[in-house]
Amino acid sequence: MTKITFITSDNETITVEGNSGSVMQLAVDNNIKGIDGDCGGVCSCATCHVHVHPDHFDKTGAPGEIEQDMLELDDNVSEYSRLCCQLEVNEALDGLILTVAQ
Ligand code: FES
Repeated sequence: MTKITFITSDNETITVEGNSGSVMQLAVDNNIKGIDGDCGGVCSCATCHVHVHPDHFDKTGAPGEIEQDMLELDDNVSEYSRLCCQLEVNEALDGLILTVAQ
């Protein structure tokens, strides 16, 4: 099981576990506040925007080109921004900490 921790805008820290699928789906399945996943994970809504903990950015790597284009439309973007529908749950992400974007 891969453990991923979300920090919500309420400062709530929630750790969830999964084996497969996208991090967005894992968040939606666990009712993580602020992760809506409106487009179903096709990288066209940015309602799954998270900031990766700086120490963990090597686990996720940088966004791809289409993802980067979507992120540029978001005001609250940082150098650690990712759209979590584009992150696959796998062991490499175990222990990842993500802050839900406002
Ligand atoms: S769920 Fe729409 S961009 Fe990620």
